[in-house]
Amino acid sequence: MKFGYFDDPNREYVITQPDTPLPWINYLGCEAYFGIISNTAGGYSYYRDARLRRLTRYRYNHAPLDFGGRYIYLRDDESKEFWSPSWQPTRKDLKDYSCRHGMGYTVIGSEYAGIAAHTRYFVPLGENLEIWQLTVTNRRATKAVLSSFASIEFCLWDAQDDATNFQRNFNTGQVEVEDGVIYHKTEYRERRDHFAYFACSEKGAGFDTQREAFLGRYRGWDAPAAVEAGQLTNSIAHGWSPMGAHQVKLELAPGETRQIVIVLGYHENPRDQKFDPPGTQTINKKLVKPAIAKYLDPAEADAAFDRLRAHWDSLLGVFQVNTPDIHTTRMVNIWNAYQCMATFNMSRSASFYESGIGRGLGFRDSNQDLLGFVHMVPSRARERILDLSATQLPTGGAYHQYQPLTKRGNNDIGGGFNDDPHWLIIGVSAYLKETGDWSILDEPVQYDNEPGSEQPLYEHLQRSFNYTLSRLGPHGLPLIGRADWNDCLNLNCFSDTPGQSFQTTTNKDGKVAESVFIAGLFVHAGRELAAIAQRRGLNAEAETYMAEAAKMEAVILEHGWDGEWFLRAYNDFGGKIGSKECEEGKIFIESNGYCTLAGIGLEDGKAASALAAVGAQLATKHGIVVQQPAYTRYYIEMGEISSYPPGYKENAGIFCHVNPWVMIGETRLGHGDLAHDYYSRINPSAREEIGELHRCEPYVYAQMIAGKDAPTFGEAKNSWLTGTAAWNYYAVAQWILGVRTTLDGLEIAPVIPKSWPGFTATRSFRGVVYNIIIERQGEGNSIALTVDGAPIPGNIIAPPSDGRKEVTVKGILS
Ligand code: BGC
Ligand code: NOJ
Repeated sequence: MKFGYFDDPNREYVITQPDTPLPWINYLGCEAYFGIISNTAGGYSYYRDARLRRLTRYRYNHAPLDFGGRYIYLRDDESKEFWSPSWQPTRKDLKDYSCRHGMGYTVIGSEYAGIAAHTRYFVPLGENLEIWQLTVTNRRATKAVLSSFASIEFCLWDAQDDATNFQRNFNTGQVEVEDGVIYHKTEYRERRDHFAYFACSEKGAGFDTQREAFLGRYRGWDAPAAVEAGQLTNSIAHGWSPMGAHQVKLELAPGETRQIVIVLGYHENPRDQKFDPPGTQTINKKLVKPAIAKYLDPAEADAAFDRLRAHWDSLLGVFQVNTPDIHTTRMVNIWNAYQCMATFNMSRSASFYESGIGRGLGFRDSNQDLLGFVHMVPSRARERILDLSATQLPTGGAYHQYQPLTKRGNNDIGGGFNDDPHWLIIGVSAYLKETGDWSILDEPVQYDNEPGSEQPLYEHLQRSFNYTLSRLGPHGLPLIGRADWNDCLNLNCFSDTPGQSFQTTTNKDGKVAESVFIAGLFVHAGRELAAIAQRRGLNAEAETYMAEAAKMEAVILEHGWDGEWFLRAYNDFGGKIGSKECEEGKIFIESNGYCTLAGIGLEDGKAASALAAVGAQLATKHGIVVQQPAYTRYYIEMGEISSYPPGYKENAGIFCHVNPWVMIGETRLGHGDLAHDYYSRINPSAREEIGELHRCEPYVYAQMIAGKDAPTFGEAKNSWLTGTAAWNYYAVAQWILGVRTTLDGLEIAPVIPKSWPGFTATRSFRGVVYNIIIERQGEGNSIALTVDGAPIPGNIIAPPSDGRKEVTVKGILS
């Protein structure tokens, strides 16, 4: 069953039923001001950091689901009936409900009692504010006398504190109302220089800023007393729960349409200009008023919206394809790329599943996110790389996370995840391949944000590599530390106390447990680093990296091979994990996927054997599970992985993040049919038809789909913020379609299904537009290329030496 449809020409997903299985969300903002918005207008906004600068309040895991939002009410002032055109929070029986989630905007609307209304929500480029354009049309044959109410509930900035510290927070709330604009200024009098504002384009018939006055005692957002009464109370919040509501009276003739613009924004004043007049406690509004006035003008709002659309045209325009499979085409051209922007911006901080208070930006996560993002805005990728590497520790290790507002490593989580440093090499390498901007390697970058510790970025990569060399275990494989990619394989944790964090509790000194996955990653990163070193003329150094990678490869083939597939790890007792000798967890996806992706065992058949075993034992119709058999009890020596019921999350769930490693591995073996088949099993668009089972949004990937051991096999969870976005994008774009960036130019090496007659693509790459036409003439994967009609040797197209800015590349597959 479907709950909507794709509108590809408009790059929208249209939801036609408000009670989707879960809130289906979208993101507003792509620079500094962000919001999440659900299909029924739920969600919240924040400035840069979802924990520390939360503008509006949201109630996670609330019943009913998805509460707190950008709620608009309409009231028929004659019949006294009121409703919300976005369904929530009044949940009336609406006609023609639709929610259009688009690129950085959402439009929600419906008709009720002959009144059609829709609201377009978006964040203009370059601004720290969001615009709601409410359009109301009278479809009755008679005049309509209406009131509209727009409302939000302010969060007292620190979302964690806001949800817990009531003894203080019920006293601190403060607002100002001036010229009809509501200013939320809690704590502005002391150390905060920032405030939020909520403004309306029409002369108001009333406002409220105190939640209790608006809702009434013991009442909820589904039936606010002031809306029911048809008159806001002009309340001023003193403590308790500051909010914003604006009432506008509307008289509409039959057929008449009116637009009301609402602006919610954030502003920071220079500390020495906080108050106006100086010496008072009144906010200086001089610097913010122009922006408010500008965007309350519907023409300006429309123009800002057009700029946003054009921005997305150009971002997505970097890579567009036309393939025989609609789900591939749609995800590559629109939604997967769009999701990559969200993961780049948010890392794993704010979604319907990430509360925005738990995590900052992950070191491992953000580096991997670059794989799917770097082609869209390389300059931001560059900045991110420099920020990430500045949190790197002098040992070459990394803080596992950092806070985006402070850009500092997060001490609460610390480091010791021994895969982390290598992702920096993978991220930088992806950046260099995309841009050819070698200057980044010479940028001076601090360690642990210590002034004076600056070294060229290149040295950070060297230290990343060496980090592992000085942390090898008994078999010569890398020590796992707290965990590797699989945060839940906690081999040194040995936790028997409730509430301990599996990831930060370390009860063993960690000199035995080893990771075959990190070994594979080390080989991959080592070869990438060698290629970089070589192009910098550091041939001897490059040879050392190659030699170390070869040595590790040999160790993997000797001690990391189980006979038919790659082992996963050795535990603290030196016992095998991911071996046929194990009772449970005999075979894992990560080591098998990553080792083959890295090219290990391609020559001697081990890669083929490993992936055949993955296919036979881990692949299901809904995707490839993490391991088999699932752990049926808690193993203290394994940690969190065995804490999940079988089939969920890391305990044999289908982790969509790692499925692409197998897809890439299959392309390396030349298996285009299987690679694309695996790709399609988890492709959200291809799963749209089974929406009732899948439950999450059909336009973005979820982190996890319940595995075959789970009672809810096929059910997705944790959509949006996952490494799944970048890796699937990278796998399909660069390995299946094979339009691949390399240090030397654009490589064309498709490994597509045999039944495909070909495909076309356009790719902007280092200032040149490549129009690519692939034609299948045989069933294999060998390709013969011409560039503007001239055959070229090999399949890497060097940048045109004669300054051509657009070329046509034709590839014949045979
Ligand atoms: C989850 C992992 C996640 C980790 C992050 C665990 O509970 O299962 O997927 O990486 O938390 O801290
Ligand atoms: C989600 C985390 O964000 C990521 O860093 C980790 O690799 C996976 N879960 C697997 O545990």
